Amino acid sequence: MNFEEEIKLLIKSKYPVVFVETIDEEHTVRQISSAANSLGIVFYRWSVTQGLQFEMNENSFYHTSSPAMMLKTALDIVDSGARAVFILKDFHKFLNDAVLLRFFKDIIAKIKDTAVTIVIIGGEYGVPEEIKPYVSRITGGYPDDREIIYEINKIAQEFKNSKVKFQMDLSPVELTRLVKTLKGLSILQIRSVINRCVISDARLSGHDMPEIEKFKKEIFDKEGCLEYYGSEIPSNIAGFENLKKWIAQRKNSVFSGTAALPPRVPEAMPTAEDSTLPPPKGVLLLGVQGCGKSLAAKVIAGELGIALYRLDLNRLYSKYIGETEENLRKALKTVEMLSPVCLWIDEIEKIFASSSGEIDGGVSQRVLGTFLTWMQERKDRNFLAATSNNINGLPAEFLRKGRFDEIFFADLPEVPEREEILRIHLAKRNLNPAEFDLKLLTGNSGGFSGAEIEQAIISALYSSSSANERISTRHVLEQINLTRPLSIIKSEDINFLRNWAKERAILPV
Ligand SMILES: Nc1ncnc2c1ncn2[C@@H]1O[C@H](COP(=O)(O)OP(=O)(O)OP(=O)(O)O)[C@@H](O)[C@H]1O
Ligand SMILES: [Mg+2]
Repeated sequence: MNFEEEIKLLIKSKYPVVFVETIDEEHTVRQISSAANSLGIVFYRWSVTQGLQFEMNENSFYHTSSPAMMLKTALDIVDSGARAVFILKDFHKFLNDAVLLRFFKDIIAKIKDTAVTIVIIGGEYGVPEEIKPYVSRITGGYPDDREIIYEINKIAQEFKNSKVKFQMDLSPVELTRLVKTLKGLSILQIRSVINRCVISDARLSGHDMPEIEKFKKEIFDKEGCLEYYGSEIPSNIAGFENLKKWIAQRKNSVFSGTAALPPRVPEAMPTAEDSTLPPPKGVLLLGVQGCGKSLAAKVIAGELGIALYRLDLNRLYSKYIGETEENLRKALKTVEMLSPVCLWIDEIEKIFASSSGEIDGGVSQRVLGTFLTWMQERKDRNFLAATSNNINGLPAEFLRKGRFDEIFFADLPEVPEREEILRIHLAKRNLNPAEFDLKLLTGNSGGFSGAEIEQAIISALYSSSSANERISTRHVLEQINLTRPLSIIKSEDINFLRNWAKERAILPV
């Protein structure tokens, strides 16, 4: 259910008070007003700076900046028997005043079971205990694809109307990517980042993507437990053929909506709801350390054409009782609002065991409960990519069939994959793989993880540069020979993991 449907349902079910937590006030006000309009109900807007205004009128009712006067006027309107929605910005912040709270409780009593709904909007939820039973709490929606395209076109039009030189240079694929990246930002933030890109070179083009991704990452990193990540293309990961095939089979049926987004004709946009196949829910990637599980999560998002958000487990666990679950609930809610996205939970076993037993007090158990319930009940179109290299930390409920669509096992890379890993990482550092004896290097790196092979190349770059030599096969080989891979140091752990996966016939990646 999207935000507008949700708010409509609450208005129709005669909830006296709804609290909307939102990062985008103006957008939320627009959505609520459009919901009210479509129900044939009038709406009023209030903020302490603007006073009480009827619908989108600029004039406000006489002396209604003060919350008490606004409530008085609202009461008159309620008494007249009108069906109305009152949208009150930050009103909850005034409720620590005893007189005002009393007044508000009287109004609640009056509007219960009537067609009047008070919607409080604010950045963070918080109402006095005694009115909580009357308050339904929801999270404000982010602008969706259609609204983002509308906004981009609007900004383009504004530039064209102004004297500023401006050119929009986006292929359909680039526009799709732009829209995907802008999702999760408020209209204000969208405008600000696009302006920033245009002002630097008078164009909006595919070249602006890194700037936009950086902006978005900054915004997300500042708040909450979700981190925004860029995705990867499949050719940057060696092996993982089964996983790539699995994803490829599902991507067209489910997420084709955004991939085929035509430029400037948002009405024609096909949506994933058109698809008859049920959307995939997610995969669990188990396996040996450094073998590309985290990298695979980025490839999954890239292949599905959706944005990638990582749940930051360090930020999730809070020392304050109750806050950890609240953080998780909030993060899951945000993800629902951002749908469709890829939710990446790296080292998922950590979600179920906070590092210190003392502060736990049952938190892990409750978090597990919240999480399993969410997995069971969610109906969104998000894709969950979870990774783990420690199966002992995973509760049995979690591995039971049905929780994930598929469980994959990432083992140490074999000869062909190792050769490909060498090729990928040499090329990444602007080196020509054809100038290296890949067969020799592959033959000498048995038991190495992808991460260790990459590390050998990086070390070889250092050693060759400090010797003032051009990097060659010899330098890489030296570093390989100097490395004691984890598969030797931790051979018992790795064998245990492998046997475990084998006994359960877990699909190799
Ligand atoms: N199959 C691969 N192809 C290309 N690069 C790889 C591959 N496997 C590992 N690498 C390189 O090693 C780095 C580390 O791998 P990654 O973090 O994905 O491993 P992981 O399985 O998640 O490890 P951990 O269990 O420690 O979290 C990657 O960023 C990538 O550069
Ligand atoms: Mg990892």
